[in-house]
Amino acid sequence: MTPQSAEATKTIKSVARQTVLKMEHVTKRFGGLVAVSDFNLDLKEGELIGLIGPNGAGKTTIFNLITHVIPITEGKMEFYGKDITNLTTDRIIRLGVARTFQNIRLFSNMTVRENILTAFHAHLKSGLFTAVAFLPKYKNEEEYFQQKTLELMKEVGIEHLADNISSSLPYGLQRKLEIARALATNPKLLLLDEPAAGMNPDETLELNQLILRIRDKYKLTVIVIEHDMKVIMNICEKIVVLDHGVTIAQGTPIEIQQNPLVIKAYLGAGDEDA
Ligand SMILES: Nc1ncnc2c1ncn2[C@@H]1O[C@H](COP(=O)(O)OP(=O)(O)O)[C@@H](O)[C@H]1O
Ligand SMILES: [Mg+2]
Repeated sequence: MTPQSAEATKTIKSVARQTVLKMEHVTKRFGGLVAVSDFNLDLKEGELIGLIGPNGAGKTTIFNLITHVIPITEGKMEFYGKDITNLTTDRIIRLGVARTFQNIRLFSNMTVRENILTAFHAHLKSGLFTAVAFLPKYKNEEEYFQQKTLELMKEVGIEHLADNISSSLPYGLQRKLEIARALATNPKLLLLDEPAAGMNPDETLELNQLILRIRDKYKLTVIVIEHDMKVIMNICEKIVVLDHGVTIAQGTPIEIQQNPLVIKAYLGAGDEDA
């Protein structure tokens, strides 16, 4: 291959990397409070980016806007080129966006297995699995969901707890169960809101491996909100820093660690937000 054609191939490849999520001039106001101000993002397929900033910076609000839990005040959002600015949460989930919550949301009196099964069933009802192309391999839908549930429990390492009530699990494992529930909706974009909260250092290391593994295996694009720098700095290719709703920096982990604005607003601020 001549150098020129190698260059051409490179260009084609970079062109081929599709934009998954585009956010343009996104602003969210709650009365007089500007929770998110003129936020812009061009997230490419397969990217794993971190969203950081002090408490109240607007991080969770950005997830709430993407999933239309709250309506946007100004701006525009596209998912794989489709305008999703005014779509309902249900539609957005069906298009392939899944999330976990800062405050864990599980059916606390159901077992681990039931929690994942209900995630499948919710999407069966919403029409996500209308095509039954998978059926020849399985006796029926129920068997398919049972198999998939087992696969997801194994993926996140909680299959030995299948019949335990979810609220009896330690926090770290409940967070993994939430990830399994999110995967059950077959997402293309996964939004993780403080997945390491309540985890010890060993669990955090495992979580890093888990996030990287599922990104590759399920071909996900991922945004992770996290205070734990062992997660953010180790697995994210790019980091966006918010402060009072304003994007004060974007860059690689090294660039962010050395950015004076970030150090002042966040990294140098001690551990009170951890
Ligand atoms: N539903 C809401 N109604 C009113 N204010 C809100 C709402 N959600 C978030 N806020 C406010 O918006 C700001 C950003 O909150 P949030 O996005 O949760 O911050 P972060 O996740 O970065 O800690 C905070 O001042 C918060 O109080
Ligand atoms: Mg938050």
